[in-house]
Amino acid sequence: MNVSLDILRMDREKRIPYHQIIPFETEDERETVATALTAINADPDVSDNTGKPVEPIVWECSCLQKKCGACAMRINGRPALACDAKLRDLTDGKNAVITLEPLRKFPVVADLMVDRSIMYENLKQIGVWLRDEANLTQEKYDLAYEGSRCLQCGCCLEICPNFYAGGTFAGTAGFVPTVRLISELTGKERREVKRAYRRYIYNGCGKSLACRDICPAGIDIEHLLVNSNAIAVWKKN
Ligand code: SF4
Ligand code: SF4
Ligand code: FES
Repeated sequence: MNVSLDILRMDREKRIPYHQIIPFETEDERETVATALTAINADPDVSDNTGKPVEPIVWECSCLQKKCGACAMRINGRPALACDAKLRDLTDGKNAVITLEPLRKFPVVADLMVDRSIMYENLKQIGVWLRDEANLTQEKYDLAYEGSRCLQCGCCLEICPNFYAGGTFAGTAGFVPTVRLISELTGKERREVKRAYRRYIYNGCGKSLACRDICPAGIDIEHLLVNSNAIAVWKKN
């Protein structure tokens, strides 16, 4: 299989973005965007479509098995995990160009690597941590478990029309972990988190559900949103 990776890169010194098209050939049907980037970076002789040598491409990864969220980027215009994006699924036979860009809602560090610390700052603002022992009942277990599966990859924020870095709305990456906390807390602490939920999540969400099908962890965002709104906004305790 022959593909071309059209990568939106960043000139290191001038900090100016530019496109570089890198031809890539593989016999392996299971090759992903992550394995292709690794192979290109490991090859000192690789050149782009103009014959220019390719400087190592800056991107992030860790687990390479859809568990850490580090490799999130825009692939053919949609946020996705590079380690989960198979090259054969990204080409249609006629068009073998695959575009790779950094996520747009976060500051670009270099090439495909962004600084997603705003997500963690948002979680700190909401206060998403346990100060005491969890009080989890069987009835709430499913919701709490679903909430604990978030990778903090940022794909849902990328697609959300209401989220922007520096705003008060924390988006789906904020509400998913908060659901877990709401399920586990009781009394005053639960009331505090519910108040933060209304401020940082419910009030900013347009309920468009553009984020519904984007989660690479397969979290059922619509189900979670309906349930967390019911608990945090409509239930008294
Ligand atoms: S429902 Fe719409 S506004 Fe709310 S988090 Fe999802 S994409 Fe964003
Ligand atoms: S909810 Fe899904 S898409 Fe959003 S940050 Fe968590 S794992 Fe990523
Ligand atoms: S490297 Fe961990 S999710 Fe892709």
